[in-house]
Amino acid sequence: MIPVGIVGYGYWGPNLARCTAEADGCTLAAIADASAAARARAVKRHNAAVLDDWRDMIADPNIAAIMIATPARTHFEIALAALHAGKHVLVEKPMTETSTEALVLIEEAAKRNLTLMVDHTFVYTGAVRKIREMIDEGLVGDVFYYDSTRVNLGLFQHDVNVIWDLAVHDLAILDYLLDCQPVAVSANGAGHLGRLENMAQITIYFAGGTTAHLNVNWLAPVKIRQTLIGGSRRMIVYDDLQPSEKIKVYDRGVDVVGSQEELYRLLVSYRTGDMWAPQISVKEALMTEVEHFLDCITTQTAPLTSGGSGLRVVEMLENASLSLQQRGHPIEFTPLRRAS
Ligand SMILES: NC(=O)c1ccc[n+]([C@@H]2O[C@H](COP(=O)([O-])OP(=O)(O)OC[C@H]3O[C@@H](n4cnc5c(N)ncnc54)[C@H](O)[C@@H]3O)[C@@H](O)[C@H]2O)c1
Repeated sequence: MIPVGIVGYGYWGPNLARCTAEADGCTLAAIADASAAARARAVKRHNAAVLDDWRDMIADPNIAAIMIATPARTHFEIALAALHAGKHVLVEKPMTETSTEALVLIEEAAKRNLTLMVDHTFVYTGAVRKIREMIDEGLVGDVFYYDSTRVNLGLFQHDVNVIWDLAVHDLAILDYLLDCQPVAVSANGAGHLGRLENMAQITIYFAGGTTAHLNVNWLAPVKIRQTLIGGSRRMIVYDDLQPSEKIKVYDRGVDVVGSQEELYRLLVSYRTGDMWAPQISVKEALMTEVEHFLDCITTQTAPLTSGGSGLRVVEMLENASLSLQQRGHPIEFTPLRRAS
């Protein structure tokens, strides 16, 4: 049994606490939150020690692993202290505020042989797993584009803009789906109600030729979670809000006849074949993820969403933010700053 402590019991922490309490192979030993109201909710729901200072949890030699569900600005300090104390760490997205901090955590975990995992929840959904499976099997062909709309009304965050809150999910999905590095990113956005951008459009160019376009917005009248993935062989519509049939695969596309050099001869024939909705696992992603974290600790294997993937996502966020400040000026990725 792995004794687990959770820091942060606001909106997301209770989900981690529920899954940890239910998962085999661990016990929910303690919850820490600076807010008295959050602690009162935790006391009602869980039979665990409830603390006001996360440092007391980290000082407890009986706790082997820490999950961090506090705001992004606090992740680095808490995660580093936990690793220093010899605890395994599952940290919420975004892993840290800077790639330099992410690298420090990765090195610290490696030095101490500890598991460091980032909660990129979508990677553990049946839908995203299925898309990856279809790409691996060659069903999709070359991935031409990933075009996502992730908009709704709120929740306005106080410490991060909409890119760090919503686009982070797509960046994590892209990091999992594509086996290639981003080359450049361009981002535009606007903050209508304060200093932080509440809407943004991001374009990412990948080495393999894939282009990703992300549209994120906290100020939309309706909630949309729709992604189009265009491949040379099939196209996918992924609608995360559908209760069933979240993924639809279309045998549609164009076949080009003639050579690119002789453009005037180029003929395009349209293919309009079948559409089907593959079976996907309906198991709760967060439960799959918590079980994976425990398994990685036990077997000393690298998590699917390791510190490395957390770092790559933070790098994309950093460069997108830089471009945002320059009204869409493309920012190139520097190979030296990438982790393997
Ligand atoms: N994986 C997902 O799908 C997902 C979804 C939502 C949020 N998140 C992530 O979870 C994290 C928390 O987000 P949230 O929406 O739950 O925020 P929140 O503000 O609702 O909750 C944060 C909690 O942390 C507590 N806290 C803050 N600083 C603290 C400190 N220094 N010590 C102890 N407690 C402290 C607050 O009192 C609060 O109860 C963020 O990183 C966010 O990006 C992830």
